[in-house]
Amino acid sequence: MAKRTTLTSIDVGTTKICTTIADMSERSNARIIGVGVAPSSGLHKGLVVNINEAKETIRESVRKAEQASNYKVESAFVGVTGRHVSSINNRGVVAITRNDRLVRRDDLRRVLQSARSIKVPSDRKLIHVIPRGYAVDGQPGIKNPVGMHGFRLDVETHIITAAVTSVQNLIKCIHGVGIEIEDLILEPLASSEAVLSEDEKQVGTILADIGGGTTDIAIFKDGSIWHTSILPVAGYQITRDIAIGLGLPFDVAEEMKKRYGSAMPVYESKVDTPSTISEDGHGVSYQDLCDIVRARVEEIIRLILLELPRSEYETLVPGGLVLTGGSANLSGIEILGRDILQLPSRVGVPTNMYGIADTLRDPAYATSVGLLLWGAKNKGLQTWKTRRFSLRHFVSRIRNLFR
Ligand SMILES: Nc1ncnc2c1ncn2[C@@H]1O[C@H](COP(=O)(O)OP(=O)(O)OP(=O)(O)O)[C@@H](O)[C@H]1O
Ligand SMILES: [Mg+2]
Repeated sequence: MAKRTTLTSIDVGTTKICTTIADMSERSNARIIGVGVAPSSGLHKGLVVNINEAKETIRESVRKAEQASNYKVESAFVGVTGRHVSSINNRGVVAITRNDRLVRRDDLRRVLQSARSIKVPSDRKLIHVIPRGYAVDGQPGIKNPVGMHGFRLDVETHIITAAVTSVQNLIKCIHGVGIEIEDLILEPLASSEAVLSEDEKQVGTILADIGGGTTDIAIFKDGSIWHTSILPVAGYQITRDIAIGLGLPFDVAEEMKKRYGSAMPVYESKVDTPSTISEDGHGVSYQDLCDIVRARVEEIIRLILLELPRSEYETLVPGGLVLTGGSANLSGIEILGRDILQLPSRVGVPTNMYGIADTLRDPAYATSVGLLLWGAKNKGLQTWKTRRFSLRHFVSRIRNLFR
């Protein structure tokens, strides 16, 4: 019988807290057995600002997911975001001193340990040390050096740290509802697991998860993470601009944005759109609404691109931009992205799940699904991506046998 492991993810977002429970089996995709969503409270720009309120909302979302799945959550993979997160690329190096000069698994562990040994200030916590590539005796670009011969092993790593206080507040909330943390995962890394293809990671692509309070960025190149960053601007600011610009209550502005808002460039806008729209007794010009939305989305996309020097777009990220997060639901956002970047742009929606997964087929749930996939990968379970590879491998082996 296939080995089956039930995993849980908790995405503590600025707008919503989502608990997802899935059976991840060796042979299947993520079979979603429970989802619990609760509107956030006690959070600001991805950070816990009121522990009691945040704890209660997490409790509610966990309870809903447990009820749906009839499964008791004991531990979970939890997402980390916020402006306090920072990243650097660092190298590690070790000598291969054994007589056979053969790189073993233990050497990988040692070289990663050496990359980890950078000075982290006492108010920062190491979240990830991700190997980007290895070099054996100075020959770079090696993904897995185990079994190779050499005197010296180098590793290039991407290191992510976060403010201890912010992480501790999050941990306190999760522990407060009686749940252990299996791993803390940077949210854009999780989102990219759910919406980027291996090809996109290989050629070079920017993933931007535009949520409610933060825009989480992960740039991939040569199959590995190259850069990560969190911007403290997202959907909330779009709504606030509408509310202030058109003199509307925040809730009305939010509803109008979701229902009618468009980031479409002016020349792409349809001419047959209504000239005025109304919501809850408030009427505004459709053109004015879209002008405000477009201006703010354009600013967010330009801020994302500031993470890269302009001259390097085409060589570094020919895969372009993949937009996800709740704000990627804005109509025309991918067209605006393509116009600004002059490279491909698309909206990434999590796929390859089954079970009660309907709620999750929305860009707002890229982080939730990605946390599960990341968790499965790090537990050594097969997911649809790794399975696709091994299937291909298996088919080619059978073919070779017949040849
Ligand atoms: N159809 C829509 N059109 C425009 N915006 C939308 C739509 N649906 C959701 N949004 C926006 O998406 C945002 C919420 O996205 P998401 O659920 O990804 O955020 P979050 O994960 O809670 O927050 P964060 O990741 O920033 O901490 C809100 O600002 C909301 O207004
Ligand atoms: Mg989010």
